[in-house]
Amino acid sequence: MTSTDALPGPNGGDLPARDRYYNDKVVLQFSVATVVWGIVGMAVGVLIAAQLYWPTLFEGIPWLSYGRLRPLHTNAVIFAFGGSALFATSLHVVQRTCHVRLLNDRLAAFVFWGWQAVIVAAAVTLPMGLTQGKEYAELEWPIDLLIAVVWVSYAVLFFGTIARRKVKHIYVANWFYGGFILAVALLHIVNNISMPAGLMKSYSAYSGAVDAMVQWWYGHNAVGFFLTAGFLGMMYYFVPKQAERPIYSYRLSIVHFWALIAVYMWAGPHHLQYTALPDWAQSVGMVFSLILLAPSWGGAMNGILTLSGVWHKLRTDPILKFLIVAISFYMIATFEGPMMSIKTVNSLSHYTDWTIGHVHAGALGWVAMISIGSLYALMPRLLGLKSMYSTRWIDLHFWIHTLGVVFYIASMWIAGVMQGLMWRATNADGTLTYSFVESLNATYPYYLVRFGGGVLVLAGMGLMAANTWKTFAMAKVREPQPLLPPDAADARA
Ligand code: HEM
Ligand code: HEM
Repeated sequence: MTSTDALPGPNGGDLPARDRYYNDKVVLQFSVATVVWGIVGMAVGVLIAAQLYWPTLFEGIPWLSYGRLRPLHTNAVIFAFGGSALFATSLHVVQRTCHVRLLNDRLAAFVFWGWQAVIVAAAVTLPMGLTQGKEYAELEWPIDLLIAVVWVSYAVLFFGTIARRKVKHIYVANWFYGGFILAVALLHIVNNISMPAGLMKSYSAYSGAVDAMVQWWYGHNAVGFFLTAGFLGMMYYFVPKQAERPIYSYRLSIVHFWALIAVYMWAGPHHLQYTALPDWAQSVGMVFSLILLAPSWGGAMNGILTLSGVWHKLRTDPILKFLIVAISFYMIATFEGPMMSIKTVNSLSHYTDWTIGHVHAGALGWVAMISIGSLYALMPRLLGLKSMYSTRWIDLHFWIHTLGVVFYIASMWIAGVMQGLMWRATNADGTLTYSFVESLNATYPYYLVRFGGGVLVLAGMGLMAANTWKTFAMAKVREPQPLLPPDAADARA
């Protein structure tokens, strides 16, 4: 049976036939997009990791040069891979916890295809060298306009669905997704205000230190809201669901939400320590970063302690392993970040590969692992299957990925601290002990280890793609899923 019209909706009451079923199509589309863009983005990551070890790789081919591929990597992994995972899970969670179908199917399709258009535009323009030169906001103004339109449509879809909800309470995962959607709209629009000077050229409305401040207010909150708040929404839904336990403390989750969003907005200046930014502003950034440790760890503990009483499941369930190890990496990154924001520590870490290690503890450890775990839980469920094609492959993926991340971040930590110490070492007469090239030579072995770690992570993604392919093949006939009553994970919702 494939037509929704012929089916009675057990919990749909007297709703029109279509509205008695969830819109899983857009969720599945974004799920597949996550896997595809994950492979593309990480393959480019491996490529640029190779270029840092073999600097002459692709020499003379402008569109394959490091300077153009690096922003391609960051945009692909953050917005295409991470973004698709956020769209997929938020549009799933909002339906299941509100017990309604999405507001509008056409709008949902527009959000999916609009976002794919943004990704393709980025994949074409960045290798061509067309960029605004703002990190994580490289795309030129016509693409920025498209992003704004798609994002506002997404906001209407998400909040419109919440407005139609059949459950009075709004489950906490939706608060995190909602906060992420609103904050990203604000950040994107304010940071990209500029004067066009041609189809692919524009000048920022801000200049000098103000430009830097606005850019890193954006940059840091892109981390706080795009790479953190949305993924915490994922944590609050998929960890209880997979563990078959209610969240450890619902009260803590509400404190977590308000504390996190109140503090994140002020921490941006920690990216600009020892710059032309006023000294007091740098100190404000540092202090708020230190405070941020509390809500970050409080929230993480809420996720981990949800396993109280069912720890044994970690032995047998590789999806849960992905989710819980993701939270552990989140704790590592959110401990390290506040430390790095302390001015004296930042004077050592800034410009070194320590920052790159920190970034990937968050990106590969937290963002990628929570997304991968959530998708392994989500996809079979939507396809009417009990599990993915192979649970052993998921377990293998978990180990390859974890090993790859550890190689990556450990090598960058060691390299970074070494670089910082070499750069500041002085002889008795005040001259530098090491030249820059000596520090670069000392870094090479670590670049090779990082490259190896990246290859492992990419191989894991290949395994995920094969597992996804086989799982879709197993579910030949896809039946629409009727609106369901609250289940264990949604019981508090
Ligand atoms: C196979 C996996 C990956 C590899 C091999 C890889 C490799 C790299 C390399 C070589 C750089 C440039 C470092 C430098 O300029 O010194 C980089 C930067 C970056 N990557 Fe990745 N990456 C991977 C996955 C990811 C993922 C999944 C994310 C996000 C979800 C991510 C986010 C970033 C960010 C934000 C930067 C810029 C960091 C900064 O400017 O401080 N990467 N990556
Ligand atoms: C309590 C939470 C956190 C704090 C206080 C924090 C703090 C910091 C600091 C001080 C830097 C170095 C700035 C510099 O010297 O240039 C940094 C860089 C960075 N962090 Fe975090 N961090 C936190 C969590 C995270 C998480 C969870 C992620 C990823 C999911 C992340 C992603 C990044 C990225 C991408 C950069 C590099 C930005 C750039 O220069 O391009 N951070 N963070």
